[in-house]
Amino acid sequence: MAEDLINKEIYFPSYLGTNDKLITLLNRTSIILCDWLSKANKNGPLPFNESFKCMMPAEDGNSEEDLFSEIESLLNNSFNPVHPGSLAHLDPPPLIFSILGDLIAAGLNNNLLAYELSPSVTLLEESLCKWFAEKIGFDDFSGGIAASGGTLSNLNALIAARNNAGLGTNPNSVLLVSEDAHSSFIKCIKVMGLDTSNLVRIKTDNQGRMNINDLRKSLDKCSIENKKIFAIVATLGTTVRGAIDPIREISEICKQRNIWLHIDGSIGGIFAITSIPIEGLNSINKANSITINPQKILGITKTSSLLLVSNMSTLENTFNTGLPYISSKENIINRGEIGIQGSRPAEIIKLWLGLRFLGLNGIEDILKSSIKRKDFFIKNISKNKFDIYSGPLHIVSFLPKELEPKESDEWTHTKVNELINNNFMLSRPKFKGKYFLRVVMGNYNTNESHIKELLGLLDA
Ligand SMILES: Cc1ncc(COP(=O)(O)O)c(C=O)c1O
Repeated sequence: MAEDLINKEIYFPSYLGTNDKLITLLNRTSIILCDWLSKANKNGPLPFNESFKCMMPAEDGNSEEDLFSEIESLLNNSFNPVHPGSLAHLDPPPLIFSILGDLIAAGLNNNLLAYELSPSVTLLEESLCKWFAEKIGFDDFSGGIAASGGTLSNLNALIAARNNAGLGTNPNSVLLVSEDAHSSFIKCIKVMGLDTSNLVRIKTDNQGRMNINDLRKSLDKCSIENKKIFAIVATLGTTVRGAIDPIREISEICKQRNIWLHIDGSIGGIFAITSIPIEGLNSINKANSITINPQKILGITKTSSLLLVSNMSTLENTFNTGLPYISSKENIINRGEIGIQGSRPAEIIKLWLGLRFLGLNGIEDILKSSIKRKDFFIKNISKNKFDIYSGPLHIVSFLPKELEPKESDEWTHTKVNELINNNFMLSRPKFKGKYFLRVVMGNYNTNESHIKELLGLLDA
């Protein structure tokens, strides 16, 4: 090939020589990123002065110097999850080996749509899903698929459940979830072409767990009204308080009535591969499908959600189209054929590298430390002053006793601002008609002295 056609401009990595330019740029980028991460303590979880200018592409490309200064500005105006006061959401610091996994996935630019576009990564995703499935007690027919986030994993499951029940286009088909289940189920119902009234909400008990009597009543009511149930969702870790629905009882009901059980384990599912004793976890292999989303607590970088199913043929039967423009290989499933997404990045690499780096002991250490921080917080928060809502996981929502809804709005608003000025970022979920403050103890950098400081600010 003529030399002048090669590397005229350095747009792409070279396939010849050493790629010196790319190495220099990667090194510089790594230094900027690491600098930003290690400056977190100086800057706080959120930028104080939002000053990021969104510069759009111009006629000519910009210089490296311009771009690096824009990258720095982007970082300096970003939420910083490594700050020990970052306690608002299910967004912990990124695991080091997951950062590397993201880099490798970007450089590979393989596509999980098909085996021919991602040979090693296809096998990796298949094997890792199988490993997870076996760990939680599914049998040989099981497996899974990665997707960009818990919402999509849940949606993949529910579409498969409806298809499996033969209710594809039936407008009378309904989904049962607890009143504390995640809001994404509203989206799922809409995307599935159903009315929001097809999402039946089951009451929770005083621990935030699905009330089994209410579930039974709702099931009977559905059958009287000739509604067809395509799935019941049990939540393994609710968003506001980390409660776990009674999975064993729900699974027995599903078995008796031949209903698909989906477990939304976006938050708590990862506990099931450890020996940490949490009620309900030993029954999760009774489910037809389960979402596990290790980005939410382990710090695998976003996104890294998995849907595991007890029988892979349910995904194949639901999503297979034949992919007419793609070759297939015997005994290997093109992974664009078992879920909603077509082209998909190799996100599995960061999950795999993160988990390989941690090992089961490291995973357990991170999860246990989250629970320990939650326990320390609960032990030391004033029980006289606050109503506290929590569960077996690492999430706590709380509010001064006897506040009316309007006062809860004002109090949480003021408090969130006051806390962020002191470098603590908490969230304010709406729950039971009031606003609460919520602390998510998934940040490995947060220690007891940080928690004491936070409690001091809450008491003030
Ligand atoms: C219990 C639960 N399920 C599902 C989701 C949706 O996950 P994602 O935001 O990754 O789509 C969340 C988000 O926090 C959640 O808490």
